[in-house]
Amino acid sequence: MTSDKNTQKGLYIKNFGCQMNVYDGDRMQEMMSSHNYDSVNSVEDADLVILNTCHIREKATEKIYSELGRIKKNISGKKEKTIVAVAGCVAQAEGEELVKRAPIIDLVFGPLTYHHLPDILQSFENDNLNKKKAIVDIEPPNEDKFTELPKRLKDNRAISAFLSVQEGCDKFCTFCVVPYTRGVETSRSFLEIKDEANELISTGVQEIILLGQNVNAWSNSNGKKMDFADLIYELSLLDLKRIRFTTSHPNDMNHKLISSFRDVEKLQPYLHLPIQSGSNKVLKNMNRNYSSEEYVEIISELKSIRPDIAISGDFIVGFPGETEDDFNKTEEIIKKIGYAHAYSFKYSPRPGTPAGQMENQIDEKIKSNRLQRLQDEIKRSMYKYNKRFLNENLQVLVEKETTPGYFSGRSPYLQSIHFQSESSCIGNIVDIKVLKVNENSLSGEILH
Ligand code: 5AD
Ligand code: SF4
Repeated sequence: MTSDKNTQKGLYIKNFGCQMNVYDGDRMQEMMSSHNYDSVNSVEDADLVILNTCHIREKATEKIYSELGRIKKNISGKKEKTIVAVAGCVAQAEGEELVKRAPIIDLVFGPLTYHHLPDILQSFENDNLNKKKAIVDIEPPNEDKFTELPKRLKDNRAISAFLSVQEGCDKFCTFCVVPYTRGVETSRSFLEIKDEANELISTGVQEIILLGQNVNAWSNSNGKKMDFADLIYELSLLDLKRIRFTTSHPNDMNHKLISSFRDVEKLQPYLHLPIQSGSNKVLKNMNRNYSSEEYVEIISELKSIRPDIAISGDFIVGFPGETEDDFNKTEEIIKKIGYAHAYSFKYSPRPGTPAGQMENQIDEKIKSNRLQRLQDEIKRSMYKYNKRFLNENLQVLVEKETTPGYFSGRSPYLQSIHFQSESSCIGNIVDIKVLKVNENSLSGEILH
């Protein structure tokens, strides 16, 4: 459909949670643009509002209900009906319950069914606008979502883009809802991924970040036998500057993939490899299936072939039964690995997960105290990591002009770097001499 000013409608999407949701949100927006929906920046200007939700922690779920409350206020005076949709993992997990608790919702669909949006929107508009009965569409479909989605948008102008290659998870860590909300582990086929990579490249994308809940468990689902290291190698042959991937599981790391960090020049020296806890007892109760020693061994192998590699991780504090001694082991791991970056969370009991039923839950105050101490340790580690680059030169892929004359981009180690330049250099790799560092970003001057 071509766009027509009179029928053009406004779409407001708010993403919560992980990068998979950012990717899904972008795909929804691209899909709806061929149905006459343009992105708008506020709920007030929107005809369709989509909350693309996250269910990973309780706080994330509660945020959705407060957001719905705000939306209700924002649209209360409007003449035209605003259609309110809840997508993502909360939609998948709660389905009808959501509508019962928040009757303002018109559409509910999940990560596996968002390609149905144009159809369910049409049915809602045709049949339901007056009756106002919500449509809930969360049953895993038979068809492949990705083959139903349109090509990537030509005018997206991003330098760095996500590409989802794998979804779902069969690992069943005892704390995690993902296997229930995103379903079983599935991989896209190599050819489908390559096509999408080429579509992104044709829009000007220079860096692709391969996404999956267990991205390094990827294997070709159709055609010749390939593992994740093969995928990286094949994609590195395309007209791209950089490749990254996230999130990996320690048990799916292998020598071949580790060697890719030496052998594939475009693969950037940064690995997000969550350990979650430094205590073997806690790791066992989390069903992580590795010990802290095995994790350290993987990192040692990586550093032996790529000494400069930046390691990032996820940590959970206050998992049921975690003692002060267990927590100390997590702090020790942070010192030992020297993380360049890390995310840390208080354990949040989730409905339907084994850890949610465990009796030895940790007091909220203890969790908060441990989180604070852990985050202080992480900050020190990040600062220490960044400090080594002071007065060094880094190759930066420039992503945007933040204010006129000021640009920002990423180093190979995923550090955000700010600098001044008289001419636009977006999309180029430039040499930056680092003049200032803090734990979250660097700044410097461009070298000509
Ligand atoms: N409570 C706290 N953190 C969690 N994560 C996953 N589930 C929970 C939970 N129930 C964290 C893990 C994971 C990251 C994406 O979110 O650290 O790696
Ligand atoms: Fe969740 Fe564990 Fe699967 Fe990661 S590996 S998505 S933490 S169940």
